Parts: sequence; C-alpha cells; structure tokens
Amino acid sequence: MGGDIIKTLIFNGSPRANGDTTFLISELVSKLKGEVRIVNTYKSKIEPCSDCRYCWEKAGCCIDDEMQSVYKDIIKCDNIVIASPVYFSELTGSLLNVLSRLQCFYANRRFLGIQQIIKEKTGALILCGGGDGEPDKAEETGITLLKMIRARHIKTIFSLKTDTLSAKNDVKAINDIAGLADILNRYL
Ligand SMILES: Cc1cc2nc3c(=O)[nH]c(=O)nc-3n(C[C@H](O)[C@H](O)[C@H](O)COP(=O)(O)O)c2cc1C
Repeated sequence: MGGDIIKTLIFNGSPRANGDTTFLISELVSKLKGEVRIVNTYKSKIEPCSDCRYCWEKAGCCIDDEMQSVYKDIIKCDNIVIASPVYFSELTGSLLNVLSRLQCFYANRRFLGIQQIIKEKTGALILCGGGDGEPDKAEETGITLLKMIRARHIKTIFSLKTDTLSAKNDVKAINDIAGLADILNRYL
C-alpha cells in the first residue's frame, strides 16, 4: 500500500473460497475505490502471538513472518474490515490466531508508551452465520480488535441463516455492503 489514495485492509476469516463471507467481501471490493489488501487468515503464513513479551520491551513484534507487512498496512490504511463466519458464536479460530498478533500495539502503548498507529481508521465488521448466529459475542470481539488498532467501529453487516439463504441471495446484506462501500469511499 502506498500513495495518497484511500486504503482498505480486509481480514477474511473464512476457509471457504466460494463461501458467504468471501462473497460479501467480493461485493465490497467491487464497490471500493482506492487500494485494497485482503488477508486470508486460512491461507496466510502468520503465526499466532506466543506471549513472548518482546513487545513489553521493544517496539513491534519479533516474529518474522507475513504479519510484518500487515503491520505496515495497518499503520498506513484508512479503513479496516474484519469479516468472518460465526463459529460457536465467535469469530473463527484462524482469524483470532492472526489477530492475536495485534497485541503488540496494546503492549507497546501500555509498557513503552509507544503509539504506533497515529492515523485513526474507520472500522467495520461482516459476520455470516448459518443459523440465527447469536453473533453478539463475535461482534463484541470484533469491536475490541478494531479498537486495538484505532479503528472506529461504524457498522456490522450480518448475513444470518445462510443454511437456507446464502449471502449471494441475501438482498439486505448486499444492499448493506453497498452502503458500507459509500462510507468507506467517503474521501474520494
Ligand atoms: C465449526 C463451525 C461452527 C459454527 N458455528 C455457528 C454458530 O455458532 N452460529 C451460526 O449461526 N452458524 C454457525 N456455523 C455456520 C457458519 O457460520 C455458516 O455456515 C457461515 O455462513 C459460513 O460462512 P462462510 O461460507 O463464509 O465460511 C458454524 C459452522 C462451523 C463449520
């Protein structure tokens, strides 16, 4: 990510390449202006946080993997979207593994007084559930994670009951995605 155009970073926590979450992300990306990076947590080579406490004493994270470039984009980007199927009323384990690496931003602030993220961001969530979803816990976790990276949560888009109505046929969710894209494109 570079230049002055608006930048959106999207975390996709679904394992399904043609699934509900991935469909809604594609809809969003088709309407977004500016640069977009999608981090697919099931495909990326990103270790979970090991609580080694490097970040209590030094800036950043010592695990040398793909997350290092994601950190740079988190710092630079304007918008962050966390998208996930609901698993047992939570975000998927794979997504939580990757996003556990956000802990270094918190520890750097708390123990070193270092604020790595200067630019505040706009944040949104996309959650898909097969049943009623009971997505409150997943939404709460998503909001907590957005806060860690200074992303102000403005909207959660739900596509629930996908067992009987897939996201591709969920007209309300598709319209909501269009509305979200308008907000995220606001400065262009
Ligand atoms: C391990 C597992 C746990 C799940 N738990 C829930 C749940 O708690 N609530 C719910 O509504 N759907 C649950 N589902 C269904 C998925 O959320 C649903 O099928 C979703 O649309 C899949 O999204 P995707 O196609 O983007 O992967 C679960 C599915 C799996 C595989």
